[in-house]
Amino acid sequence: DLYGVVLAGGTGTRLWPLSRAGHPKFLHPLTGTDASLLQATVVRLEQLSPPDHVFVVTGVAHAAEVSRQLTDVPADNVLIEPSPRDSCAAIALAAAVIARREPEAVMGSFASDHLIADREKFTEVIQQAMSGARQGLLMTIGITPTRPETGYGYLECGSVVGDGPVMAVQEFKEKPTYDVAESYVKSGNYLWNAGMFVWRVDVFLAELARQQPQLAAGISRIAQAWDSPAREEVLGEVWPTLPRISVDYAVMEGAATVGRVGTVPGDFGWNDVGDFHTLGEVLASDHAGNVVVGRNIENKSGVLLRETENLVVVPTQGRLVAAMGVRDLVIVDTPDAVLVCPRDRAQEIKQLVDALKESD
Ligand code: GDD
Ligand code: MG
Repeated sequence: DLYGVVLAGGTGTRLWPLSRAGHPKFLHPLTGTDASLLQATVVRLEQLSPPDHVFVVTGVAHAAEVSRQLTDVPADNVLIEPSPRDSCAAIALAAAVIARREPEAVMGSFASDHLIADREKFTEVIQQAMSGARQGLLMTIGITPTRPETGYGYLECGSVVGDGPVMAVQEFKEKPTYDVAESYVKSGNYLWNAGMFVWRVDVFLAELARQQPQLAAGISRIAQAWDSPAREEVLGEVWPTLPRISVDYAVMEGAATVGRVGTVPGDFGWNDVGDFHTLGEVLASDHAGNVVVGRNIENKSGVLLRETENLVVVPTQGRLVAAMGVRDLVIVDTPDAVLVCPRDRAQEIKQLVDALKESD
């Protein structure tokens, strides 16, 4: 069985004002159904991990809502971070807690903010990655790139391992510049890193100790105190001292240079729903390309659209959003903020929010 670790952190700035510090995107139903992204992520693991093998790492501010949404996940498996220290610390904590239960366990780490179209295929790909993990590789899932996206990691594919489909990764490059990303995509030899990882916990922790000794030592202290009354005290003391770095920079780039990273292609309809435009692309639309987020498109209560085209509309509970004669817009209504912007500028919402924070 796989230990499934779901990372529920980060705020999703480009989905403001829907996603914000107090209610980040993974808690929202952005899936086209009533399920939140987080719930969909856990349901997706059903065929791989029994409920007691599912762990969630989340911030202290969201732990209660996470537990409320995930009734099947044991309370002990919700690991609570005192503050965000980026993905490496979150993943390392889960790996160390799992290692205490089963030292050679295979774990998979999953982002809570991705949409995946084909669940059967997803299960099959993760099982392939598990076989690479058992051979001692730090496994990634590779997505065929469609544009020179600079917000992702890139995997340079090497030779096939054994009978395949596992491939060696020669280089792991996190967030390259536009020009570099463009040359990678043109070469045809690079895949996007999907942001999911599968490995044996002992293999990962050894690589962490080699590359990030301070982080590894801190996590090991926390793990030793985990089942004792000193847990909170040690966590409170050590956690703020951990380096704030993502697992991609902290471990994966360096592990690839010494041949310890593998990948399997993940053609299961992967989407990182980072902004409203992308969200509009992946959710079902009506005949004029309008997308209503957070509910089934058949049920348009809360929204009245007349002669509109290509809108992404996010209504709020108990209030009507009406639009007429407009196209290519994002319209987001929330109890305390409304956003309207052209769909092709949805990426720039991040800068808008940065400006808001500065004016505070
Ligand atoms: N619990 C917890 N605590 N989770 C965190 C924290 C934290 O402090 N920081 C980040 N995460 C979680 C996020 O919720 C997300 O699920 C995952 O870790 C990745 O973090 P992002 O901040 O979204 O990373 P990214 O999108 O810039 O890049 C990663 O994902 C890309 C694909 O979406 C990298 O792995 C890239 O290589 C990859 O291409
Ligand atoms: Mg992300």
